[in-house]
Amino acid sequence: FHVPKAVNEPVKAYRPGSPEKEAVLAAYNTMWNAQIDVPLYIGSDEIRTGNTKNMSAPHDHKHVVGTYHLAEKKHVDMAIESALAAKNAWADLAWEQRAAIFLKAAELIAGPYRAKINAATMIAQSKTIFQAEIDAACELIDFLRFNVEFMTQIYNDQPKSNSDMWNRLEYRPLEGFVYAITPFNFTAIAANLPASAAMMGNVVVWKPSDSQVFSAKVIIDVFREAGVPDGVINVVFGDAAMISNRIFEHADFAGIHFTGSTHVFKDIWKNIGNNIDKYKTYPRIVGETGGKDFVIAHPSANVKQVVTGIVRGAFEFQGQKCSAASRGYIPQSLWPAVKEQLIADVKSMKMGSPADFSNFITAVIHEGSFDKLASYIDQAKKDSDAEIIVGGNYDKSVGYFIEPTVIVTTNPHYATMETELFGPVMTIYVYDDKQWSETLRLVDETSPYALTGAVFSQDRYAIAEATEALKNAAGNFYINDKPTGAVVGMQPFGGARASGTNDKAGSALNLLRWASPRTIKETF
Ligand code: ALA
Repeated sequence: FHVPKAVNEPVKAYRPGSPEKEAVLAAYNTMWNAQIDVPLYIGSDEIRTGNTKNMSAPHDHKHVVGTYHLAEKKHVDMAIESALAAKNAWADLAWEQRAAIFLKAAELIAGPYRAKINAATMIAQSKTIFQAEIDAACELIDFLRFNVEFMTQIYNDQPKSNSDMWNRLEYRPLEGFVYAITPFNFTAIAANLPASAAMMGNVVVWKPSDSQVFSAKVIIDVFREAGVPDGVINVVFGDAAMISNRIFEHADFAGIHFTGSTHVFKDIWKNIGNNIDKYKTYPRIVGETGGKDFVIAHPSANVKQVVTGIVRGAFEFQGQKCSAASRGYIPQSLWPAVKEQLIADVKSMKMGSPADFSNFITAVIHEGSFDKLASYIDQAKKDSDAEIIVGGNYDKSVGYFIEPTVIVTTNPHYATMETELFGPVMTIYVYDDKQWSETLRLVDETSPYALTGAVFSQDRYAIAEATEALKNAAGNFYINDKPTGAVVGMQPFGGARASGTNDKAGSALNLLRWASPRTIKETF
């Protein structure tokens, strides 16, 4: 089993006057006014149900960039039937043919579709060009390339045989169809959840987030052009509860690949449990959910590193990452220096439209998110155990803009130390230098989540102690770096506890969930 060696896609710089900058601006301007109309994609059909919703730009929410069509129950049924109809031919196709399709999809994004997928992500998910390039171009390309390599690693993993006995593992796809529910915040994750299951020979019904329809359309265009056969990945938009309920009632439901919120994932798990007697097989449940990701600095830490880790970890991508730093623990001895540098760095961050490439931060995704963040900020302004040291302003008159905000609290269990906010708000607790070990315990016990976290220290004993004490507090643990930005093929990504099933996206462990191996023993 041999495939081209996967390489990470280099991130382009988008310097003024560069061809990539001209191309993405041209795509942005065209797509801004294109009034695109996105149908359901079921089998070979594009279905316009007539029941539509508007897509708008979060940084300019009165501007409608297009519409998308909502599924009814019958369309969900059609998507399932179309997946099942495509199943046998797809499963029987040699793995090289499947691999070639997804390698071609990666090259289409790296080349002709790069500007388009970046522009769609900038417009409807309000990402800066640098955020879009890292996500919608590079990470998406990496997922496709590396997963092909991981797939062949899996197929190569074979049991021992003797001269008179040949043992084989046949990595069959799951018996039925896979359901993918994807989030708004990463175009790469949106594409990867259906693609990784499909790559392993499965057929998929995919429900993208309402806030990610624009880039989902570009992903579908790419998959179709790359040669994903009709029916292998079917797309339905609309009411998530209705779609999920319909799917979980189906005897051929075989697995879910999910990224989204913790409470939705728990509901899904219960729903599947309630329907368990209906299924032919125990469904695979793979989910990546929330985080309350920490940064802890030891008194030996390098202040510049700590501040960079907080600023980039908390505010890049508007803090809308499940991995985003959102609670910090800083020793009293470092606090004056950290505070001064942090305020200066946060004040220097420009906020505004993604069309202006000098902006570092743009709008949050929608009004619900804006209102939630604003209410926590308002509460912090009132509470005696909290103080906003920088930021704290917000404005939704044009776009859903929340200033990057740092709250300092004297209460390690203050609401924003514990609640996932999913936005550009960071809360810091200053601890007594003598309480390092106790603070490690506090970090571990404060949150039900365990996705990412970072320790900053120049002291090896302290690093070793933190690594051990926080063993179960994060699935991705960073030493002297921000707790975000896992790269496919380098840092397999995922967490346990309330953060998910820890099936590590960007690794063979994840792809293995989409196979149901058959052991074959043949004697001679
Ligand atoms: N994989 C993304 C990160 O690590 C979410 O930041």
